[in-house]
Amino acid sequence: MSSSILSLLSVLSVAAAQFVSPPTDLINKTGFAGINVRYKEVPTGICELDPNLKSYSGYADVEDDQHIFFWFFEARNMDPSEAPLTVWINGGPGSSSMIGLFEENGPCRVDENGVVYNNPYSWSNVSNMLYIDHPAQVGFSYSTPVNGYEDSSTGLIISLPDLTCPDYAGDTCATYSYPNLTSTANSTVSAAPSFWKTIQGFMGAFPQYSRHGFHFSSESYGGHYGPVFNEYIEEQNAKNITGAHQIKLETVLIGNGWYDPLLQYQAYYNFTVSPGNTYDYDPFNASVKAQFYNNLYGKGNCVDQIKDCAARGLDAVCAAADNFCANLVENIYDIYLGRDEYDMRELTPDPFPYSYYTSYLNTPELQAAIGAYQNFSTSSNAVYTAFTATGDDNREAGTIEALQKLIKQGINVVLFAGDADYNCNWLGNEAVATEVNAPGYCNAGYTDIVTSDCIVHGQVKQSGYFSFARIYESGHEVPFYQPLAALELFERAINGMDIATGKEKLSTGYITKGTPTSEYREGNATMVFEVLAGNSTYNTTTNRPDVVEATMRRELKRGVLGGKKFKFGA
Ligand SMILES: *[C@@H]1O[C@H](CO)[C@@H](O)[C@H](O)[C@H]1NC(C)=O
Ligand SMILES: *[C@@H]1O[C@H](CO)[C@@H](O)[C@H](O)[C@H]1NC(C)=O
Ligand SMILES: *[C@@H]1O[C@H](CO)[C@@H](O)[C@H](O)[C@H]1NC(C)=O
Ligand SMILES: *[C@@H]1O[C@H](CO)[C@@H](O)[C@H](O)[C@H]1NC(C)=O
Ligand SMILES: *[C@@H]1O[C@H](CO)[C@@H](O)[C@H](O)[C@H]1NC(C)=O
Ligand SMILES: *[C@@H]1O[C@H](CO)[C@@H](O)[C@H](O)[C@H]1NC(C)=O
Ligand SMILES: *[C@@H]1O[C@H](CO)[C@@H](O)[C@H](O)[C@H]1NC(C)=O
Ligand SMILES: *[C@@H]1O[C@H](CO)[C@@H](O)[C@H](O)[C@H]1NC(C)=O
Ligand SMILES: *[C@@H]1O[C@H](CO)[C@@H](O)[C@H](O)[C@H]1NC(C)=O
Ligand SMILES: *[C@@H]1O[C@H](CO)[C@@H](O)[C@H](O)[C@H]1NC(C)=O
Ligand SMILES: *[C@@H]1O[C@H](CO)[C@@H](O)[C@H](O)[C@H]1NC(C)=O
Repeated sequence: MSSSILSLLSVLSVAAAQFVSPPTDLINKTGFAGINVRYKEVPTGICELDPNLKSYSGYADVEDDQHIFFWFFEARNMDPSEAPLTVWINGGPGSSSMIGLFEENGPCRVDENGVVYNNPYSWSNVSNMLYIDHPAQVGFSYSTPVNGYEDSSTGLIISLPDLTCPDYAGDTCATYSYPNLTSTANSTVSAAPSFWKTIQGFMGAFPQYSRHGFHFSSESYGGHYGPVFNEYIEEQNAKNITGAHQIKLETVLIGNGWYDPLLQYQAYYNFTVSPGNTYDYDPFNASVKAQFYNNLYGKGNCVDQIKDCAARGLDAVCAAADNFCANLVENIYDIYLGRDEYDMRELTPDPFPYSYYTSYLNTPELQAAIGAYQNFSTSSNAVYTAFTATGDDNREAGTIEALQKLIKQGINVVLFAGDADYNCNWLGNEAVATEVNAPGYCNAGYTDIVTSDCIVHGQVKQSGYFSFARIYESGHEVPFYQPLAALELFERAINGMDIATGKEKLSTGYITKGTPTSEYREGNATMVFEVLAGNSTYNTTTNRPDVVEATMRRELKRGVLGGKKFKFGA
């Protein structure tokens, strides 16, 4: 080979390396309801490290222009064909479920050096786990993959005719899911059918993992997704659709959810001003408190606008209301405090939970191992923009009624909330639980959750198939901050056992006895007042960073596509 051809080839391969080579090794199968599924087996060590356990990833082709990514892990400590099946999805809208997989409850995590290590508290310890990037264009889910770059002034994705990356593209050359707002969902309600189709596709392609109960778990915007998607599943079941599978839904589990904007925008004030949080953190002076109160309750302000959205239901009214409430109510915290909305104990930038996995998900090795068509991003701008246009965030969207119906149908509904999260804080989640008004719940009391480590990590109020748990010393992503309590709560929920002890089989008459309010106060011992180094580690025994390094060094190794964190980022 002449040296000139050799150098030309090496230039080409360097250029093309910025883009993702589409997989050629996917297996096709037609799932239930006629949904086409393409998948492959993921090698040991890519995430699950146990060679005796299988893992699969792939796509459900729910529309010609919508391909939903899933990543499946066999249950660890039981026969996977006898294990329950649990789906986990993250929120956003637009957030990838790789957040849950790699930061929270998946079989593995990734360290600073890109090395995969085991998570002993993986929810796959007790269930088959299926992570889904929903809707299309989120994470590895795609509409149309294009090789292109992001225009720095407009933020638009510009496709490139060949595989050469021009200098002016900087480091934004990548394979993107073309951000077409009509090739995804723009509301919770409109995202439900493609979710149902994805489950139908998976269950048909993998009947061996779908023989027993189906359980749904989520967090954050999952407070919208969970109730609505699952009630949709129940409605589809009732139709006896030919060729479709009756999904045996048993549990709906949601952490730090965003359900009802009317209650939860008010809860921002309650959490930081009055009655306040349990960390003795009372950060605002009288004038900021008055401004906060007025932005909420003043005539024509946030509360009035949410009510107007609910009454009129117009996209423009709801979108404007959400914009007002997000900027002038929720954001007061960010403007004055510089703290992480998802964990009030840390200043920003907060290195927890660790995000080293985002670089790993953008390596050619990983992309080939899972059959990716595009680069990874933690959040989809397009999906977020589509939902913003309908003001979905400012709508209650039928979530409360859907939860009530699910409870009535005998589904075990478990809501839980880490009590250091501001974004979807526990006071708002508690108010939602009261609003759901499950049978007997008004007579239930808070009791300690007993876990195998004999440390009280929270309290629960439960009546029959409905429970609300407050988890102590935890930010938004509970399985990261309280891994043992989260795993045991999850196991009890999917096995239909009481949350408090895990020893009593649930029945409609089950009720917890205890105090009407949860009184435990952490105090300020775990509040951190210095910006942490990017490589700090979080200690789940002390509930604080191992070493507080007073440095502004920021070493968040996020992929360039994953830099933006949305309002309900996880
Ligand atoms: C697999 O499915 C895709 C998408 O439906 C289709 O384009 C392709 O031809 C199928 N391949 C095989 C081998 O059946
Ligand atoms: C989860 O399962 C693994 C593998 O069986 C085991 O080593 C680990 O101790 C389990 N974790 C917990 C918290 O029980
Ligand atoms: C967006 O998707 C729709 C539906 O698939 C398609 O008709 C349209 O051409 C797409 N637009 C662009 C700019 O790709
Ligand atoms: C669906 O099937 C069930 C059980 O066979 C039956 O009770 C129900 O009436 C059917 N529903 C419809 C809409 O056909
Ligand atoms: C906020 O606090 C007020 C006054 O204590 C209470 O009436 C209201 O229910 C609380 N709302 C939320 C969402 O926490
Ligand atoms: C209250 O706090 C805000 C934000 O820190 C500050 O700008 C303002 O000057 C303070 N007002 C008074 C009266 O101290
Ligand atoms: C996109 O994926 C390619 C191929 O693996 C990789 O070389 C590139 O660094 C990734 N780009 C970004 C921005 O993460
Ligand atoms: C949301 O999507 C639907 C189609 O699914 C479309 O009719 C509607 O116009 C969209 N709404 C907005 C505000 O873009
Ligand atoms: C923490 O609480 C203690 C006791 O209430 C108080 O003396 C101290 O000032 C507080 N520290 C901070 C940083 O707020
Ligand atoms: C974190 O990084 C700094 C340099 O930026 C280094 O001095 C320190 O040892 C690192 N700490 C850990 C725990 O790795
Ligand atoms: C976490 O804290 C506990 C209790 O202080 C300590 O024993 C342990 O070594 C710490 N872990 C790390 C990794 O520093």
